[in-house]
Amino acid sequence: MKIAVLYGGVSKEREVSISSSKGIMEALKQNGHDVIGIDFHPNQLDEIINLQVDIVFIGLHGKFGEDGSIQGLLDMLNIPYVGSGVMASALAMDKFKAKQLFQTENIPVAKGNKYRMTKQTNIEAIIDDIHAHFTVPFVIKPNREGSTLGLTIVTEQAQTKAAIEKAIKSDEFILVEQFIKGKELTVPVMGKINEEQALPIIEIIPKNDLYDYESKYAAGGSEHIIPARINEELTEKIKQYAITAHQVLGCETYSRADFLLSDDGIPYILEVNTLPGMTPTSLFPDSAKKAKISYAEMIEHFIQLTVR
Ligand code: DAL
Ligand code: MG
Repeated sequence: MKIAVLYGGVSKEREVSISSSKGIMEALKQNGHDVIGIDFHPNQLDEIINLQVDIVFIGLHGKFGEDGSIQGLLDMLNIPYVGSGVMASALAMDKFKAKQLFQTENIPVAKGNKYRMTKQTNIEAIIDDIHAHFTVPFVIKPNREGSTLGLTIVTEQAQTKAAIEKAIKSDEFILVEQFIKGKELTVPVMGKINEEQALPIIEIIPKNDLYDYESKYAAGGSEHIIPARINEELTEKIKQYAITAHQVLGCETYSRADFLLSDDGIPYILEVNTLPGMTPTSLFPDSAKKAKISYAEMIEHFIQLTVR
């Protein structure tokens, strides 16, 4: 098949996307496909149209890649692509909206609130509201961003302002959430619509205190324990939450749900990633490997699910 892989793009996760796409392109070539990599910018739309590819593999992350924008463009051009469509992508990217949907399915979520910060917004009033509703430690992050960029764990109220200023560099909507102390878990989900399955749950042990950008992408930045050291009953429950989360957002083909398992045993869902990282240190391929699915087989599976 003739497959274009869109990589790079303009989001803050550009470097991550380049690394993910390198792996994706190698795998597609290994599987015998005719692969064209495109460092994506909207003015390359003509090129994508003229190439007359069978499928586009979106190797992008974050803004314009993972939020439904490129998906909408490809839909209008009638070009099939791997993964979730416009609605699911946009919903998953909006962490607060996604939390509201998870709650309708009784999946535990941390207490959270979304604030819109424009140039006219009175930041002091927002700070007061945050302090009235959240006790330290709490988390401030951009509502629509990835790879932990722009996130602060606020441990003293004096840090709130700087945390807001950092988050709004990525998104004018900020999400404030009560901090959950516990284990970081993640669950890859893949499969046909309504028949999705969860891959082994990964327990993440970051080298830094936080599973931050460095722990995510530096070689040796974190340790992945697969399967996670949790009992069978909880494993099944969390896997079902991940599948339900994928389905309630309307995701397609693959996704990865991130959780925090609190010290008192509650698995709080953080978010669903519709284009999870596929880099050498990434979680999804590592879990697939544990399930005896090689990186190339995993990518081919996504292709086959797309051409169904
Ligand atoms: N946002 C990054 C790519 C991830 O979730 O894997
Ligand atoms: Mg993420």
